[in-house]
Amino acid sequence: MSSIVCLESLEAMKAFLDRQANERVALVPTMGSLHQGHLALVEEAKKRAAVVIVSIFVNPLQFGPHEDFKNYPRDLEKDLHSLERYGPLSVFAPSVAEMYPNGPSRTVITLPSMTNTMCGLGRPGHFDGVATVVAKLFNIIRPHFAFFGKKDAQQLAIIRQLTRDLNFPVEIVGVPTVREPSGLAMSSRNQYLTAQEKDQAAFLYQALLAGKKLFERGERHAGSLIAEAFKILEAHGIEPEYVSLVDADTLASVDTIADSPVILALAARLGRARLIDNVVMESL
Ligand code: PAJ
Repeated sequence: MSSIVCLESLEAMKAFLDRQANERVALVPTMGSLHQGHLALVEEAKKRAAVVIVSIFVNPLQFGPHEDFKNYPRDLEKDLHSLERYGPLSVFAPSVAEMYPNGPSRTVITLPSMTNTMCGLGRPGHFDGVATVVAKLFNIIRPHFAFFGKKDAQQLAIIRQLTRDLNFPVEIVGVPTVREPSGLAMSSRNQYLTAQEKDQAAFLYQALLAGKKLFERGERHAGSLIAEAFKILEAHGIEPEYVSLVDADTLASVDTIADSPVILALAARLGRARLIDNVVMESL
């Protein structure tokens, strides 16, 4: 017998939650096409709560008109199968009509100072879509804990902020990035890469590590760390969309690193895939 319960409607979700009234609930929001990065979140969630709910929903609100919403990889059967060994757990896999019964949400959550930077510049509206769907999921599931990957550092900072700003009674837990042996951060969009592009993509992390190494040798100027990363990218034929050094919490641009943690983050298009990655740097 399968230890995975798959719920597809808000009503079924509510009935399920009513039966778990006294349990700690952990939510792992995903868009499916699950890989080891997602599964690391599930593993952490299992440690913290008796009831773990993985949501699988490709959220149209966070895709731009020319982005890959239609072609985003979807395979619910395969996802349920990869979750099997983490059971018992529940999957919430609503349809678009179930989540947005009246068409696109008229209420949109926006955090201008945190979205008009980094990935938000190349993907206008993306983080409003993320913030809005995550707020909906928090209200539908009312979890005690919610797990997000540090790979999506801007997304994580935005979700932490909206949780504080709107007083959602949930603890946000960030989980370290899971990487391929080459260092490439795992991503559902890595499926779009050719073998050659995949080799090239490993240099995204190498570029960030080169910046971090310089930081560890005492360099504190953002310009020098960014230039160091650029050098590696250029040497491997990668033209990034951006390389930024920002405060890890506020995402404000940093010129000289002081005491608060910062992230060195980048995005680059390789073939059909738009890839992102980051490293955290902190003076001890
Ligand atoms: P998705 O890209 O499916 O990612 C779901 C979660 O898995 C996110 O929190 C993401 O940061 C995390 N994740 C992805 N790759 C990872 C890796 N290599 N290591 C660690 N964690 C990783 O992010 C989204 O979906 C959506 O925007 C969502 C939050 C579900 C809202 O629609």
